Amino acid sequence: MSQQRLKIEVARAALKHVEDGMLLGVGTGSTVNAFIDELGASGIRLEGAVSSSDATTEKLKAIGVDVLDLNRTGDLALYIDGADEFDAHRRLIKGGGGALTREKIIAGASKRFICIVDESKRVNILGEFPLPVEVIPMARSLVARKLTGLGGQPELREDFTTDNGNLILDVRNLDLVDPVSMETKINQIPGVVTCGLFAHRPADVVLMATESGIETI
Ligand code: 5RP
Repeated sequence: MSQQRLKIEVARAALKHVEDGMLLGVGTGSTVNAFIDELGASGIRLEGAVSSSDATTEKLKAIGVDVLDLNRTGDLALYIDGADEFDAHRRLIKGGGGALTREKIIAGASKRFICIVDESKRVNILGEFPLPVEVIPMARSLVARKLTGLGGQPELREDFTTDNGNLILDVRNLDLVDPVSMETKINQIPGVVTCGLFAHRPADVVLMATESGIETI
């Protein structure tokens, strides 16, 4: 099965958790794009959605979903998003698409977070995927030095600005055996908006598409 086919299968599995009249949080990325396509074809009428990126907003509007301001909605029933990596505790690395900050905000505001992935995203220990860190531009060098001090090798994501007007440092070789502690340490560096570790607030459920069907973790 192609990776795109796996994304469509897991998108369909996620759709079973979505009901008419729901307030839905929607993440960013190619798996979420498959989910939005399936949502559009499903006939489900949401009350509205809170979007994690400009790209997702555009796609949601194209299928007729009202995109709402989180400041007006209050908590959301459900958040659907992808991930770059996940472990057995449903802790994640996110931010490959650069939308990590809004994604983390929506995850924090959602009663339930369902993460949709294919099996290529499963790891024993997080950190094979470079950890994205969103940084205020004037703090770029300071944050890079501090991340090096934590054992990482940060690299500026070239020609990329987040929807919030910030930069991304992609960090290799961090020791993420204790991702909760590393998330805390990185988020305390002045100038860091947030890092792409979702360990304090992991997914509640991971739906993983495999060649032999959908696994629920
Ligand atoms: C965007 C993300 C995405 O969820 C992550 O990059 C996975 O994307 P894809 O579904 O395209 O593999 O965190 O910031």
